[in-house]
Amino acid sequence: MKVGLIGTGTVGSGVIRIYQQNGEHLDRQSLEKVQLKTVCDLDFTRCPQDLSAFQRVSDWRDVVSDPEIGTVVELIGGEEPARSAIAQSLQAGKHVVTANKMVLARHGRDLLALASENRVSLLFEAAVAGAIPVIAPLRSSLLPSRIQAVYGIVNGTTNFILSRMHRFHADFPSVLAEAQRLGYAEADPSSDVDGYDSLYKLCLLAATAFEVQASPGKALLEGISALSPRDIQQAIERNEVIKLVAMARWTGGRLEMRVHPVILEEGHPLATVSDVFNAVHVLGDGCGELTWIGRGAGGVPTASSVWADILALANRTAYRMPAPVAADLLPKEEMVSSFRIRLCVQDHPDVIASASNLFSQYQVEVREAVRAGSGEGAELIFQTGPAREGNKDRLLETLAQQPWLREIASVLRVGLE
Ligand code: HSE
Repeated sequence: MKVGLIGTGTVGSGVIRIYQQNGEHLDRQSLEKVQLKTVCDLDFTRCPQDLSAFQRVSDWRDVVSDPEIGTVVELIGGEEPARSAIAQSLQAGKHVVTANKMVLARHGRDLLALASENRVSLLFEAAVAGAIPVIAPLRSSLLPSRIQAVYGIVNGTTNFILSRMHRFHADFPSVLAEAQRLGYAEADPSSDVDGYDSLYKLCLLAATAFEVQASPGKALLEGISALSPRDIQQAIERNEVIKLVAMARWTGGRLEMRVHPVILEEGHPLATVSDVFNAVHVLGDGCGELTWIGRGAGGVPTASSVWADILALANRTAYRMPAPVAADLLPKEEMVSSFRIRLCVQDHPDVIASASNLFSQYQVEVREAVRAGSGEGAELIFQTGPAREGNKDRLLETLAQQPWLREIASVLRVGLE
């Protein structure tokens, strides 16, 4: 089985490294011997591996048009030309293995239909949660169950940043700069910190677990860049942890898709997942609850999932991934959460009653109201019961108009129920 690799960056280099270091082991694991024939990149200088044993090309079309190559590994990243390379490979009757969550989240339905038409596989274990095997188990061992919810921490960069903010009481910009220095965050970190990367992965989890296409634009999406050391400090004081969580679940027959920071109690299983580690939790009617924890980012861990898919092809055990159908999504304003809302206010004893009246006017139940600080630092902290996003948004609009309000300092969701 001859393989062509397009993209020799962080993950591509990891694929080559595993091939070179574990060659005999890979041979023992596969029915059909796998040969990495061709590597393709515009610039091979960023790849630390010895590439002399491979055919080297700079145009991905040379890989796609090679009749000897039966499997194309796409690790270019970004939308184009990655989407074209995947589509043309499938049209040419080649299996495709990819880690490209953005292309799959946006075009997965068409590409999976193309794979099916051409009787080939489009496999993407490496696109979700790095080394954690979650796509293949959802399409094999867990198939007897109807999956009700999939959620977890699926972005290593933001989990690293939040872990550091908690441990060192640091602010977001300085930890982001550190993450960039250590090579965890991209020079343009917005895809990670604004939650898009998690959302793309969530779309793939939904497609895999529920066989539905969930358009990323319809999900509730909030990143971590607005979190302040004060929010983190308050969480620490209450034995809580803030995590960026991605969640897809059935709610009254509609699919609820959300990515946002969540305050969790320290004892929650997701609260202990730190640094670049990811966790994926699945709830199914037969299987019950399962959680995987592992390295969610990094070249070699992600490349190990690429090889899992290549070996599945070599062993003819690749999972079947039907083209997903359109999902009926729960609108954002109907989603329900408990909130912690921190308001900077004028330092006056009447303010807490005025604010509480507005909460009840918008059917946002107040479970706890605390007055903290004084003078310029006077704050009100409200902990609410479960409330609709739409009601919370209207409440915030009205709060913003109050003469006693200095600032809506933060609005965070509490718990995963
Ligand atoms: N930037 C991604 C992360 C890489 O941090 O999780 C792996 O998809």
